Amino acid sequence: MDILAKSREMLDALTTFPYYAVLPPTRDYASWQEASAIAFALTCIGARSDDLPSRLGATRVTVNPKASSVQDAVTRYSRTTVALEPHTDSSQQENPHSIVIFGMARPDDLGGETQMVIVDELLSTLNTDTIALLRRPIWPLGHQPKPILETDPSSGETRISYYRKQLERSLELGASLSEQQIKALSALDSAIINLSEMRSFRLEQGETLIINNHKVLHGRTALADGSQRLMMRYRLRANLAACTSVLESGKRSTTVIPERLMYAASRLEGQGRATQAQILKSYARRVNATATSESAPSMAEVENALGTRDFPRAQSLLEELAKEAGPNFDVSYFLSALATQRNEHAKAAALLANAATARPFIALSKDPKLLACRKSRYQQLILNDDSRSLRRNWGRQVMRE
Ligand SMILES: [Fe+2]
Repeated sequence: MDILAKSREMLDALTTFPYYAVLPPTRDYASWQEASAIAFALTCIGARSDDLPSRLGATRVTVNPKASSVQDAVTRYSRTTVALEPHTDSSQQENPHSIVIFGMARPDDLGGETQMVIVDELLSTLNTDTIALLRRPIWPLGHQPKPILETDPSSGETRISYYRKQLERSLELGASLSEQQIKALSALDSAIINLSEMRSFRLEQGETLIINNHKVLHGRTALADGSQRLMMRYRLRANLAACTSVLESGKRSTTVIPERLMYAASRLEGQGRATQAQILKSYARRVNATATSESAPSMAEVENALGTRDFPRAQSLLEELAKEAGPNFDVSYFLSALATQRNEHAKAAALLANAATARPFIALSKDPKLLACRKSRYQQLILNDDSRSLRRNWGRQVMRE
């Protein structure tokens, strides 16, 4: 499978229900290395050219009593053994990450089941008044009040940004809620708890979970005391709608994608992420090969250039075409004609000999039958050609050689 297929697969998983996927273990490298490399590539592919991401952030998530003693960090909970209610990551930020990846390096034998809640399912359990209130930018998550539910301007879909612990932290710091807000939150929390039972599973060693952090809340059950659980976590801001647009844009994708892949690989390399860089480079080489063959000039372009007497362009297009494998009558024939025009007769003869390997009947010979065949072919070329006089004149010169 190439990078385009891999990218589309990941994009499909992130943009269609249930908006998350569990990837199986891989053999040569960790599944999260491949997933994070592809996700970083998606981030680069969907970015504006003046806003390309510079690095891929990664965190080793382990139970860490030292980190958990930092009282002002909401994320400290992920370093403890307590259960984490379903939430979205970076909910306190104005622009939360769109992709979160968890690679399970070492699971907890006794606990730590993953729980997922999808916003679409959540919406179907909430009443319209609650939804309307959750859409208002009044919720104390981070520095500025913001909505919990909002419409994604690119996809038109409802997205969510919510972490109860984050909100409680804001309340500790002085924010307040109205009675109506408290009631709406209570309805939201109950719905989340009820739905979390439905999508609960164990992430096995070597597996990777990829999540659309705008559409899915993730949580986990409590861990065992002294848990040695180890996960790799990556968070990325990919514009998924822009990625879809580039991947579906046909010819544009053959120019943008290889360029962005090489950029992503070089950034990963610069960060010391050699495996991820290598994964993208090997994919990028395959895409480059495809792009080259897809963007090769056509004979129609050559004939256009000849028709407008743009001979340098015709020459350059023909040279490009000549790089393709296998003998090609038209390419050699026209290159020969151009050589004749420049009075490079020896070169023209050699090129005509090349053409002859593709169409043997055009070979120089004094055999009358072959000569007749050559003439017939020559006539046919003239009759079929729009730039008839051009080819006739050149053809005659070439044929005389
Ligand atoms: Fe989280």
